[in-house]
Amino acid sequence: MSIATSPNKNQEKNVLQSFTQLSDIFEEKFSRRHFPEDPQQLYDASQYLLTVRGKRIRPVMCLMANEMFEKINEDSFAVAFAIELFHNFTLIHDDIMDRAPLRRGMETVHTKYGESTALLAGDVVLITAYENLNCINNKYLHSILNLFNSTAKKVCEGQQLDMEFEMQQQVSFDDYVKMIGLKTSVLLAASLQMGAILGGAGLGNQDNLYEFGKNLGIAFQIQDDYLDAFGDPQKFGKKPGGDIMANKKTFLWLRALEAASSQQKNKLSELLLRNDENKIEEMLQVYKSCNIDDWAKELKQKYFALAMRHLEEMAVVSARKKPLSQLAEYLMDRDV
Ligand code: IPE
Ligand code: IPE
Ligand code: MG
Ligand code: MG
Ligand code: MG
Repeated sequence: MSIATSPNKNQEKNVLQSFTQLSDIFEEKFSRRHFPEDPQQLYDASQYLLTVRGKRIRPVMCLMANEMFEKINEDSFAVAFAIELFHNFTLIHDDIMDRAPLRRGMETVHTKYGESTALLAGDVVLITAYENLNCINNKYLHSILNLFNSTAKKVCEGQQLDMEFEMQQQVSFDDYVKMIGLKTSVLLAASLQMGAILGGAGLGNQDNLYEFGKNLGIAFQIQDDYLDAFGDPQKFGKKPGGDIMANKKTFLWLRALEAASSQQKNKLSELLLRNDENKIEEMLQVYKSCNIDDWAKELKQKYFALAMRHLEEMAVVSARKKPLSQLAEYLMDRDV
């Protein structure tokens, strides 16, 4: 991960240590096999994406939230593990929906094993998440499961909206924020809240952590959309321009449609009907001429500030908020 290679400032060094230390725990755990041998195709496909290095931000957030209130406990590890499994399940199915050939710099599961096996592998990974949840202390099981399940449904709702928007030319900015709030933010928010629940946090602190995650998640998805268009493919690990090819209604598209001249508006509509590889380059030209860069920074900053306000409002000594605030800062400028 490039975050491990650019520790210039001292402050950055600290977050890298705590973030990478926690994230390495999951790398180690996922490098081991978690599935039986037979049927080999199914279980190899289930294991495959888990072993490819990801950022592991959701399980790390769960642990960091837990550590705000007490020493990280065993149940938090089980829940964090389940969260990363759930996330990987969504990625396997998402790559089928988005027709994506690459993830984490490797072939996607359906490209390597075929769509039907990838669907089943995603299901197996999801069920494994529930097996891990099932191991936690009864005292917390009910509230964790409730939150986990309501979050999972919201992610499905967000994914459905994301696909429906592909067919629409006009999508309002509010609808876009609602959609990314569902497909992406709620999982970050719930990861934090679950860690807090397991740390015995009060409702006020739980709510603020959830809202911190919700707003951070929106900023996170804005960065994801930006990187899909303008990221360095070597680092980002996905096929560049995938959103453009799939006619995703990202904030780049919405902003371009708003800022474009009438000639450029026609161009944007015409590009939606095209399928050739030049489509990406031509769309990027329009995006650039609409100063998408500055706008993206402003928008991310707005949601980042909202997130930080909720972190500040928490009734916890500020030293305990540091790992999360530093992780949030890293996520704003990530290139991975
Ligand atoms: C990708 O999530 C899916 C989105 C919600 C944008 P990440 O960017 O956290 O992916 P990995 O787990 O690090 O590969
Ligand atoms: C994915 O959003 C959200 C979920 C997987 C639930 P994207 O489709 O933008 O994620 P990437 O870019 O493929 O990682
Ligand atoms: Mg998608
Ligand atoms: Mg996708
Ligand atoms: Mg994306």
